[in-house]
Amino acid sequence: MGQTYTNASFKDYEDIPELDVYQRAQAHTGYLNYLQVNNFMNYRLLATSGCGPEIELAEDGYLKKGSYVSFVCNDYLGFTQHPEVKKAAIAGIEKYGTGAGASPLIGGYFEFHKELEDKISTFFKRPKGYTVVYTTGYTANSASLLCLLKKDDIAIVDMAVHASVYEGIQGTTTKRFLHNNTKALEQILSAAQDKYRTKMVIVDGVYSQDGDIAKLKEILEITHRYGGILLVDDAHGIGVIGETGRGAMELYDVLDKVDIITGTFSKTFGNVGGYFVADPELITYIQFQSRQYAFSAAATPIVTGVSKAIDLVDEEPHWQKKLWENIEYYRKGLQDIGLDVGTTESAIIPVKIGDIQKNCEAGKLLLENGIYTNPIMYPAVSMKDSRIRMSLMATHTKEHLDKALNAFEYVNKKLDIASTL
Ligand SMILES: Cc1ncc(COP(=O)(O)O)c(C=O)c1O
Repeated sequence: MGQTYTNASFKDYEDIPELDVYQRAQAHTGYLNYLQVNNFMNYRLLATSGCGPEIELAEDGYLKKGSYVSFVCNDYLGFTQHPEVKKAAIAGIEKYGTGAGASPLIGGYFEFHKELEDKISTFFKRPKGYTVVYTTGYTANSASLLCLLKKDDIAIVDMAVHASVYEGIQGTTTKRFLHNNTKALEQILSAAQDKYRTKMVIVDGVYSQDGDIAKLKEILEITHRYGGILLVDDAHGIGVIGETGRGAMELYDVLDKVDIITGTFSKTFGNVGGYFVADPELITYIQFQSRQYAFSAAATPIVTGVSKAIDLVDEEPHWQKKLWENIEYYRKGLQDIGLDVGTTESAIIPVKIGDIQKNCEAGKLLLENGIYTNPIMYPAVSMKDSRIRMSLMATHTKEHLDKALNAFEYVNKKLDIASTL
């Protein structure tokens, strides 16, 4: 039986013909048991401390209770633990309580929501009225796109965009183009000319698995030349990329030209929620027509912490500087061991391994050596592209990074991951 699971992935259990929902759940449990028995169960590990460069984990199977150097938090600037961010979030709760009590349309729209929307508009150099706040970054993509794009429109997406975009484009015509391949994008746009009401091109700023950056200048030029609209989700670029942390759009000097910007509070802004930035007519349309926005409770007052985190990106630029020192030191350290970090240009650092089994093994060995990472496999990446994915933080110390590099050296000796590819 174990053999049948060797190259399996979660994708295999999404749907199984002929099996009802209980039978499918049972088959899924069989796969989880296989992962558990082989100590490959690197998911849902129970943390007993907060998000940060070190995390306490509870005992679980082979996993010992204790402190681990962590690379699993996308809290790039360390703002989840910043005293000023915490203070602002607590002040928000003191003033407004713990919940919004209703959806924004019917009583759940408070001044702290408006302040946050205005702050985001200003952060992206737009006038007030250009932002709507969702309760997750996921819905800032999925729910807004479901609302905006219908059958007679077309979504043209980079094949590596986030799952939330794929969910959002289910009600429209869809074409995928090869990752960051502007020729392929142009071909699709050229063929789509005059056939669709709206042609929306959707890309990430920084890609969440490889950490590479979209060729935004060319993408924007091509999109506009063919009468398209460009949406950029820069969940992983904000706070990290660009002179003042405005992400890939700042790097390529297109911040004022991108039509729609989406993003999240769950990474640099140290909270939960997301935003959609566009012309006011679209914002109003979303406010009344986006089902997840209209029929779901508004963000809680803890998002007052996000407003402070946004200020801190400008007020304390040393965090971004420190993050980049860490990125450069760590990336070079991994490369010196002979490991393949792919095309990363951001705080997302993958170590490419390829083989699923070896990838699971590597994740386990790293944990045994006190290093907590995410082994990523199909369907998050293609079948032969398994990797250990890590997010660097400004608050990692040199000692943290050296400990991880030593662990990778050990894993490489054991598994020969440098020569796998
Ligand atoms: C590129 C991208 N977009 C959107 C999201 C969703 O953000 P959230 O965690 O706020 O739902 C993520 C989260 O991982 C992401 O990586």
